Amino acid sequence: MNIESLVMNNRSYRGFDESTPITREIMTDLVDLARRTASGMNKQPLRYRILSDKQDIEKMVANARFGTALKDVKLPPENGKPTGFILIFTDKEAGSPATLALKDVGIAAQTILLAATERGFGGCMLGSFNPETLMADFGIDGRYEPQLAIALGTPAERVLLTDEHNGSLTYYRDAAGNHCVPKRRLEEILI
Ligand SMILES: Cc1cc2nc3c(=O)[nH]c(=O)nc-3n(C[C@H](O)[C@H](O)[C@H](O)COP(=O)(O)O)c2cc1C
Repeated sequence: MNIESLVMNNRSYRGFDESTPITREIMTDLVDLARRTASGMNKQPLRYRILSDKQDIEKMVANARFGTALKDVKLPPENGKPTGFILIFTDKEAGSPATLALKDVGIAAQTILLAATERGFGGCMLGSFNPETLMADFGIDGRYEPQLAIALGTPAERVLLTDEHNGSLTYYRDAAGNHCVPKRRLEEILI
């Protein structure tokens, strides 16, 4: 896939085909790639926890909030859960100013998802979760601060990009059940 196809196919997926799981080995490769991306002052403050065990995945699914703008849709679906997670932390002792470290998180997360897309997988960045629960669930040392969870698996949803919908940027499901994501027009974002 060229970069345009990768970016277009790299949507936020919240429903997965559990019969084709992403493996711990693949997720490790994705982190290994993210390890080599740009980092402010090259402080490399990011740390990762890979979840592939079913019980761990259940815990993270219970903690995270998927697609909260969709009030009538249960996400992830009962039999369509992610088959892995990559949790991204910042190491408070790495000497990276918070403003820079958070930019590193975005770069790493996008890299992970683009690489997952290239391998036929997909997922969703999740910033909405209870951090204390996450720390306790996975026995994380207090020097690390959870920043983002990435749910991963084989996407089982159709996501369409649309223009603004009734003046709103809120994502929605159309009559056919497609997940629709309004994006601002190019003219609007060039200032
Ligand atoms: C930093 C960040 C945090 C996000 N947190 C959540 C989240 O907690 N739950 C969720 O369902 N989606 C989350 N998303 C996904 C966004 O809702 C999604 O990117 C947006 O609706 C646009 O859809 P698209 O990624 O397919 O373009 C997050 C995305 C980003 C970049």
